[in-house]
Amino acid sequence: MSEKFSVFYSAEQIGARVRELGAQISRDYDGERLVLVCVLKGSFVFTADLARAIDGHVRVEFLGVQSYGDGNESSGMVQITQDLTKSIEDEHVLIVEDIVDTGLTIAHLLDLLRTRKPASVKVCALLHKPARTRIQVPIDYLGFTIEDKFVVGYGLDYAQRYRNLPFIGIVEHG
Ligand code: IMP
Ligand code: MG
Repeated sequence: MSEKFSVFYSAEQIGARVRELGAQISRDYDGERLVLVCVLKGSFVFTADLARAIDGHVRVEFLGVQSYGDGNESSGMVQITQDLTKSIEDEHVLIVEDIVDTGLTIAHLLDLLRTRKPASVKVCALLHKPARTRIQVPIDYLGFTIEDKFVVGYGLDYAQRYRNLPFIGIVEHG
């Protein structure tokens, strides 16, 4: 089976956008301590690049979340598979998400993290698919808005594959 990809965003385009987001976040938090909450698994690549694009005092935490089975249909259920290792009380928290699709995951995570009394919680998403919105969530920092296509690469998977692609695109089965 051969596989081809239609590239939506090249590694260079993603890199340039991530640097812009990092610069904007650095300006906005202006010397404040910031906790980046990387939503696993999809956001591990984005978080690694974003963290290095932010100039300032950054702590990185990981939150394991499963909202999909091994396919591309949302179950609507959000399961925490791995929790933060340290308190976020009185900290400025930025949730780093690969893609906001229905919005259910981010809505759930905002509710969850707010119960832990952070100084603030904001959302940074690399991608947003507005056509699939089921619940409106604030996206304070957004990389790109995309059409309703199932994309892979740069951390995003289909059935756990393709996370290692350096670009974002769709799989064309040929
Ligand atoms: P939501 O809860 O529907 O917003 O889904 C968010 C999660 O679904 C994301 O963090 C991804 O892990 C996954 N997801 C949604 N759309 C895509 C896609 O196009 N490609 C890969 N994963 C996706
Ligand atoms: Mg995700």
